[in-house]
Amino acid sequence: MHVAVVLGIETSCDETGVGIVAGGRILGAALASSMDEHARFGGVVPEIAARAHLESLTPCLRSAMDQAQIEPGEIDAIAVTSGPGLATALQTGLAAAKSLALAWDKPLYGVHHLAGHVAADTLEHGPLPARSIALIVSGGHTSLLLLGDLATDPIIHLGDTRDDAAGEAFDKVARLLGLPYPGGPSVSRAAAQGDPGAITFPRAMLGQGFGFSFSGLKSAVAREVQQNPGLRVPDVAASFQEAVVDVLTRKAVAACREHGVGTLVIVGGVAANARLREVAAGRCAAAGITLRVPPPALCTDNGVMIAAVGGLLAAAGQPPATLGLSADPSAPLTRAVCAPTSA
Ligand code: KG4
Ligand code: ZN
Repeated sequence: MHVAVVLGIETSCDETGVGIVAGGRILGAALASSMDEHARFGGVVPEIAARAHLESLTPCLRSAMDQAQIEPGEIDAIAVTSGPGLATALQTGLAAAKSLALAWDKPLYGVHHLAGHVAADTLEHGPLPARSIALIVSGGHTSLLLLGDLATDPIIHLGDTRDDAAGEAFDKVARLLGLPYPGGPSVSRAAAQGDPGAITFPRAMLGQGFGFSFSGLKSAVAREVQQNPGLRVPDVAASFQEAVVDVLTRKAVAACREHGVGTLVIVGGVAANARLREVAAGRCAAAGITLRVPPPALCTDNGVMIAAVGGLLAAAGQPPATLGLSADPSAPLTRAVCAPTSA
C-alpha cells in the first residue's frame, strides 16, 4: 500500500514550521522563529509575526524538501493550520499552502492547530490507541479531551480553562517576576533553582470536575511578590510551577480513571516543562496509566505535527478542503479537520 507523503505548514503564531511526514515518520523538518523580535514587547506582535512568516516560508520549504530529498511530484498532499491562531499569521500559511496545492495539483487539508499538537506524539510513539485522554497545555489553550480516532471521530471536551491557559499563566508570571519572554522556559529555568514548597499557592477547582482556572493563581503570585519583596524569584517560580503541575496532573489522572482510559497523552508547549513531565510520570505509573509525552522539540509549534494530521486524514480517506479554505482564528476544537470556507 502506498503511504502518503504529506507536506505540513504551520504559521499560527510566531513559529514558521514546514514538515514532511510519511506513514508517521518525519522525512524533513524546518523551523524559523520570530520569538526574538517579540521579546522587547513582552508578547507576540501579530504584524511582526506575519511578516516574519512571509520571509521564512520559502526558505523553510526549501530546507524541509532538501532534507527529505524529494521533488514536488513525490508529495501526495498538503496540510496547513487553518485555525486557531493569529489571523494575519494564519493567512500567510494558508496562502502558501493553497499556492502549492494549486501549482502542484495536490489535495489540501485544513488542520486544527491543537489536533496537530496531539498528532505530534504519534511521530515519536506511534499510532494512538482506540481511546485516550489528551491534556493539551499551550499558550492559548488548556483542555482535557477524550479522544477516539483522531482522524474521524469528534473530539470530546471533558474540561477547559475558564480564563487563562496554562502557558499564558507561565508567560504572565514571568513578566511579574521580571523574567524574559517566552515565560514558560524562563520560569522553569528559575524554578529549577528554587524550593517548590516555599509558598503554598492556591490549586483552583481541584475536585471540581475537569475544568481549569489559572487567573487566580497569577493574581496570588502578584500579591505575594508585592507583599513580600524579599522573596527569592526561584522560590516563587518553583512554587507557582508546582501549583500548575499539581492541578494539571491530578485532573488528567482523574479523567483517565473516571472514563476507564489507560493512556494519557500530554501535548502543547507547556508539555515541554520538565517538572510537569516528571510529576505526570510518577502519578501515571502509580495509577497504572500509560503516559505519552512528545520530546520537547515536538511539544512547541512545528510543521511536522500538521503534516502528521494530514497523513492521518489522508489514510482515513477524509475529503480534502477546497481552495476556498479560509482561516478561523478562534476555531473550536471539535475535530482534527478545520476547514471553514470563505464562500
Ligand atoms: O504550543 P505552543 O508552542 O504555542 C501555542 O499553541 O500556544 O505553546 C507556547 C506556550 C507558551 O506559553 C510558553 O511559555 C509555554 O508554551 N512553554 C512552556 C515551556 N516551554 C514553552 N511552559 C512551561 N515550561 C516550559 N518549559
Ligand atoms: Zn501550539
